[in-house]
Amino acid sequence: MEFFLDTADVDEIREIAAWGILDGVTTNPSLIKKSGRDFKQVVAEIASICDGPISAEVTAMDTAGMIEQGRALKAALPDNVIIKIPCTPEGLAATKVLTEDGTDTNVTLIFSAAQALMAAKAGATYVSPFIGRIDDTGHDGMNLIADIMDTWANYPSITTKVLAASIRHPTHVLQCIQLGAHTATMPAKIFRQLMKHPLTDRGLEGFMRDWAEVEKAGNA
Ligand code: E4P
Repeated sequence: MEFFLDTADVDEIREIAAWGILDGVTTNPSLIKKSGRDFKQVVAEIASICDGPISAEVTAMDTAGMIEQGRALKAALPDNVIIKIPCTPEGLAATKVLTEDGTDTNVTLIFSAAQALMAAKAGATYVSPFIGRIDDTGHDGMNLIADIMDTWANYPSITTKVLAASIRHPTHVLQCIQLGAHTATMPAKIFRQLMKHPLTDRGLEGFMRDWAEVEKAGNA
């Protein structure tokens, strides 16, 4: 499974990239706003920190505008930048054209298995179903991941990867893995929570305390 960071904060990306297990980064217009930085500059810096796919989102609403922005972003940014496109009819058409250009895409804002399937038919490299935003409405976002994986199982020729997004807690990640999702994108906080266990900390403290005594006794 691939683990992506869902942020445009380069300090967080450096921190998690240093762990050696970061496979990519997703951004969106809201995350770019939060960074307070120039869109292309910050995406270029992210792409220099992590050599996996870095999603940069188009903001045009029409097909021609999305294609133009996607091509301009590909021309201006490092090769590992991929184009994130909203799951609308206009977005599907843009995905098809950019895919024919040889550009990798991430079709985002997916809330049904039908939308995921349509995006796959358009040639999307990734589809991004939003788990947490469904949970926020009082429904179970994980059912969407299950529905998409069931659909994919019927059509082994589909190569589009399912990128679970809008992840709110570590259990979401584990459930996505159990359902066979290819990728999960999550905030740095979730990466840290996935690694944290009080018994690991307590066990290490005990080992270090005992090792200090081994050293003190001259037996190290
Ligand atoms: C990922 O590509 C999305 O931009 C992101 O996961 C959305 O998460 P949110 O619902 O926490 O904003």
